[in-house]
Amino acid sequence: MSYEEMFQRSLEDPEGFWAEQSEKIHWLKKWDSVLDSSNHPFYKWFPGGELNTCYNAVDLHIEDGRGDQAAIIYDSPVTDTIEHITYNQLKERVSKIAGALKTLGVEKGDTVIIYMPMIPEAAMAMLACARIGAVHSVVFGGFAPRELAIRIDDAKPTAILSASCGIEGKKVIAYKPLLDKAIDLAEHKVEKCMILQRPQADAVPVEGRDLDWAELEESSEPADCVSVGSNDPLYILYTSGTTGKPKGVVRDNAGHAVALKWTMGMLYDVEPGDVYWAASDVGWVVGHSYIVYGPLLLGATTVMYEGKPIGTPDPGAFWRVISEHNVKVLFTAPTAFRAIKKEDPDGEYLKKYDISNFEALYLAGERTDPDTYEWATELLGTPVIDHWWQTETGWAIVGNPRGVELFPIKPGSATKPMPGWDVRILDPVSGDLKSDGESGVIAVKLPLPPGTFPTLWHNDQGYTETYMDPFPGYYFTGDGGKKDADGYIHVMGRVDDIINVAGHRLSTGEMEEIVAKHPDIAECAVLGAADDLKGEVPIGFIVLKAGVDRNAEDIVSEVVQSVRAEIGPIACFKQAVVVKRLPKTRSGKMLRGTMRKIADAQDYKMPSTIDDPDTLAEIEEAVKTIGYGKK
Ligand code: COA
Ligand code: AMP
Repeated sequence: MSYEEMFQRSLEDPEGFWAEQSEKIHWLKKWDSVLDSSNHPFYKWFPGGELNTCYNAVDLHIEDGRGDQAAIIYDSPVTDTIEHITYNQLKERVSKIAGALKTLGVEKGDTVIIYMPMIPEAAMAMLACARIGAVHSVVFGGFAPRELAIRIDDAKPTAILSASCGIEGKKVIAYKPLLDKAIDLAEHKVEKCMILQRPQADAVPVEGRDLDWAELEESSEPADCVSVGSNDPLYILYTSGTTGKPKGVVRDNAGHAVALKWTMGMLYDVEPGDVYWAASDVGWVVGHSYIVYGPLLLGATTVMYEGKPIGTPDPGAFWRVISEHNVKVLFTAPTAFRAIKKEDPDGEYLKKYDISNFEALYLAGERTDPDTYEWATELLGTPVIDHWWQTETGWAIVGNPRGVELFPIKPGSATKPMPGWDVRILDPVSGDLKSDGESGVIAVKLPLPPGTFPTLWHNDQGYTETYMDPFPGYYFTGDGGKKDADGYIHVMGRVDDIINVAGHRLSTGEMEEIVAKHPDIAECAVLGAADDLKGEVPIGFIVLKAGVDRNAEDIVSEVVQSVRAEIGPIACFKQAVVVKRLPKTRSGKMLRGTMRKIADAQDYKMPSTIDDPDTLAEIEEAVKTIGYGKK
């Protein structure tokens, strides 16, 4: 079937289309209907069905004869380890960890937080939850205790699974003190934690609360897969919204398994037994969908890489992993390639490795800029495929369906809507459809396909208000862009206060809330400024309270420290500047777009609504002092 036929069918007969895909997973009870649209905008895929996601990702492949095939290759240059874990071994360990969860009192429907580095036990913990019908919520290790505490209070976990440390390049980051602090900060009191001791750092257990992972896993009875409803939640993944409160994106079991398994062939052109590598982190959606669930649902081998693109030990690290493990497809963020390009512009390190079995590079998390695209294409000689998606959607909205048909690539565009996605460009004010070539906000006609998000965790209202109400009948993506005459979608960036720093999604609104708490600060703005390596980085503009005569540098360093302490190092908030006033309209709205243009050294028009034009001249001078703006 051609892409066009597949795409049209998915929109004209979604129920027939997805019913067919649903046959490729294992059901304990077949669904009653494909789609329940009775409670708009809360659509349900495959209601009445029962399955187990862990069974589909592990046990099923053993029954199909893949027991001795590697399910996970753990490659950790930071600990000098390479480990192959077969599907048989994975089942054995996941069953025991699931048994350990039961010992901790975790039951079907309970939530479990997983705060772990990129080690196989993180994936095992996720699968163990799925096995017993518990709902996992993985929290990225680069988040500070306060962020973890916010997630603990929202998810109210029965137990937390963690490790003694993560390893970031040459730094060993002790996780246990961060976890202890988060538990102290949270109102919801967690009764049990299971802590994996890694040799690089020793975690001191809290008596009566913390149990040793290895001992508990060893002593627990293996637990079998339970039957879980199609629409029961598999996981919650928190992502940045425009305020300080992250959004708990919910993924349900059936739609997720059906859609992800299908994308592995349709989009990535990967088959069971192939080696697939998503160089991301289990804490992000890419890690959920394409380090853990997608490749394992297919019966492929997934690589879990605990390292960086550079510095562990050099910019040849990715080529080594591809060559050593025979990786067919790599998925990472453009920033990783920019980092490699910066250190090895001529690709000298690639010459040391044979990567002749490598077929394609997929990039997402931020737009692939044409320079990075050209460099990677020339270096690798394979397709370099940009694809656009979000935590909310769980898989690509727009991409190049290499497994069906590879379209000519237009640098800067993520190519075409994937089957199941009715992508429209709307006028941001009227909501009217835009013509080809015109920019607007990107929306998707409802219902969203399976594997997306049926709601936000315990927050139906937030779901409708944020995503469904702005343009009735559509899902509002929060991104702006356009469709060209060939049907290619060009994603231009967020139209809200969310920024992408090194492919990590962050809220400038949340940073502003933290900066504004400083006792000497009257008001502030945090914006994403263009950055050669990380795509964007946050920079702050601070107005001091009248009468404050402290050294500005000290105040800047204090706010930088507080963002790091409250959100985490991953926020990369390192620069701020004190200004006399912030530019505003006469009605008091901050002129963020114009400030951003100034920081990015772009030309701008003086807004007709500006209250005082001199404020922009002041911003122009101020950004120069931190290395931004026109030179
Ligand atoms: N646990 C604790 N700290 C972490 C962490 C983790 N899991 N991940 C990152 N951090 C810390 C880093 O150590 C760094 O701290 P520092 O300010 O003390 O140096 C900070 O958070 C910022 O990290 P990062 O943005 O990763 O910057 P970097 O300079 O260490 O590395 C790149 C730059 C480009 C090499 C790196 O961002 C990268 O590999 N990106 C790939 C993109 C990716 O995986 N995206 C995920 C979505 S697909
Ligand atoms: P996250 O939820 O962390 O995956 O971030 C989602 C956001 O990242 C999107 O809303 C986009 O703004 C941005 N993004 C992800 N992939 C792409 C891409 N291929 N092109 C442009 N923007 C992207």
